[in-house]
Amino acid sequence: MSVSYMTHPLIKHKITLLRKETTGTNEFRKLIEEISMLMGYEALADLPTADIEVTTPIEKTIQPVINGKKLAVVPILRAGLGMVNGILALVPSAKVGHIGLYRDPESHLPHEYYCKLPDPIEERQIVVVDPMLATGGSAIAAVDFIKQRGGRRIKFMSIIAAPEGVSALMKAHPDIQLYVGCLDRCLNENAYICPGLGDAGDRIFGTK
Ligand code: PRP
Ligand code: URA
Repeated sequence: MSVSYMTHPLIKHKITLLRKETTGTNEFRKLIEEISMLMGYEALADLPTADIEVTTPIEKTIQPVINGKKLAVVPILRAGLGMVNGILALVPSAKVGHIGLYRDPESHLPHEYYCKLPDPIEERQIVVVDPMLATGGSAIAAVDFIKQRGGRRIKFMSIIAAPEGVSALMKAHPDIQLYVGCLDRCLNENAYICPGLGDAGDRIFGTK
């Protein structure tokens, strides 16, 4: 598995704002979307192109366009939902699948409650999005589900990751490409990322 860590100052700046406990729901959502778009720009740098003929006011010319409409964005519910529009701003024709997982508060193990992916999933470039990669349990389970349903070309985007989650995902799915906005220090005793940003789902949806 390849892991890419974001180095762009705009991504770093926006992740810092996201972490602040004083950042309210509205700004938090906006930042998640902007960071997702900036990370998506990096993660989609290898999208295939095909040449087409266009006529400019001056002459005919052969120029590249993105080839096909085969992208699927797959948020892990709930928090991944906040990242979808950032990717759709870049590739509006992408289809959207959903995987519903929640972490058991005691065991920290993921539980599936929903999975719906766009057909034909085996032909699509899939971008799984979830702002937090903590133990890696949810990410591993999500990629397992996608593979069981035939998905093959999988990228995973997470805004903040713990070293434990990166290692676990790398070990379980060495064939995927992982894009991380910022690698944090460690997990705490509740499997929350330190320094992290708290509970991403609660901060996006204003719940607690
Ligand atoms: C959060 C987050 C990830 C998961 C990461 O979701 O959005 O899906 O935890 O933790 P892990 O790497 O240890 O599995 P949560 O289970 O809190 O659900 P929510 O998005 O519905 O709040
Ligand atoms: N899920 C979150 O939302 N935050 C963490 O720090 C870990 C898991």
